[in-house]
Amino acid sequence: MRGMKYVVLAGLVSVFALGSLPAQGEESFEPPGMLLTWQQDPLTTMTIDWHSYEERDSVLQYRPDGEEDWEEAEGESFPFPFSERTIHRVELTGLEPGTRYDFHFGEDSAQYAFRTMPESIHDAPVRFAVGGDTRHNQEWMENTNEQAAKYDVDFVTWGGDLAYADGREDRLYRWEEWFEAMEQLITEDGRVIPVLAGIGNHEVVNGYYYNHDDYEQTDEWREQIAPYFYALFAFPGQPGYGVMDFGDYLSIILPDTDHSNPIEGEQTEWLAEVLEERRNVPHVFPNYHVPAYPSHRSYDGGVSTRVRENWVPLFEANNVQVAFENHDHTYKRTYPIRDGEISDDGIVYLGDGAWGVGTRSGDSQDEWYIDQFASERHAIIATIHGGHRKFVMVSEHGDIIDEYPQ
Ligand SMILES: [Fe+2]
Ligand SMILES: [Fe+2]
Repeated sequence: MRGMKYVVLAGLVSVFALGSLPAQGEESFEPPGMLLTWQQDPLTTMTIDWHSYEERDSVLQYRPDGEEDWEEAEGESFPFPFSERTIHRVELTGLEPGTRYDFHFGEDSAQYAFRTMPESIHDAPVRFAVGGDTRHNQEWMENTNEQAAKYDVDFVTWGGDLAYADGREDRLYRWEEWFEAMEQLITEDGRVIPVLAGIGNHEVVNGYYYNHDDYEQTDEWREQIAPYFYALFAFPGQPGYGVMDFGDYLSIILPDTDHSNPIEGEQTEWLAEVLEERRNVPHVFPNYHVPAYPSHRSYDGGVSTRVRENWVPLFEANNVQVAFENHDHTYKRTYPIRDGEISDDGIVYLGDGAWGVGTRSGDSQDEWYIDQFASERHAIIATIHGGHRKFVMVSEHGDIIDEYPQ
């Protein structure tokens, strides 16, 4: 269908300019940073962030791949913390599931593409990459990003410790490098891979909320101690933890392990409700930062103990079968665990956050719960198809270091 079309976006109705193609010349605008994520239904929406130093409109054009006419959507803009950059953000809604779209940022812009998630996983699988601890240096992050892109994953989810900027102005360059490395999260055929990112200690000044004497559990405090995280990621946004549901087949939960919110109290009540409501979803995966079952740090660590005491019983009561953990900079796979013991119907914990960081030794690898261990940077490639799931652990150079189930 050709002609005038309308889109409703954050309460705005805009009329589209149609038919213009982006120039592909040398002066093409390529944003210094871009991030795709979801705030709502991944089947029919996409949130697109792009950055600029010069003044630009927060307007993008998009169309289903293969169509001629562009539709236009307008969003908002706001400052990148401690930077001359502006962040532009548009949320596209009313999209078709399982569909590739082209997009660009005005007539002088390079062209990109994204893909909405499919309605079901009965006919074809969905694949995503999991990890955390993404950037000690740009090259390591780029290596593992390349692996995820080679597997053509539908999206990536990271459980904290993203750029290691610690909410500090003098570490802005780490975010600049992080966004440069995101260029490797574009597939060979030009599709930008969306990201669902959770919070870790290195998103937060002093790492943990309790290192701030006057901390209160408010939006203002969270933003104050984690200024980049709350600006750069539309999801989870406030209050810093969230759940993303993919149709009736998949839910990714991103909790906050004491960084900008306490584990105990409000957040645990929220998690209990989230898990209970999703008891019948076939694939429910929490991806959080500090591990319940660490491979490097001590089992008796305070945060790990709080995760085991508050969240693990909720996972066990609500059919969670695999949980993703980070923060220890290793690869680990636990035995299936239930009630603090190895058990056939237990939960397997996969981790431990070594996407793009210097890896650590397995100081806790002899603990009773560790089955597999490697000191290697890696991505966990998860494939879900119907009721089945498979995890393939791929090193930054493309070697398969473990599989589960085998
Ligand atoms: Fe880390
Ligand atoms: Fe960490």
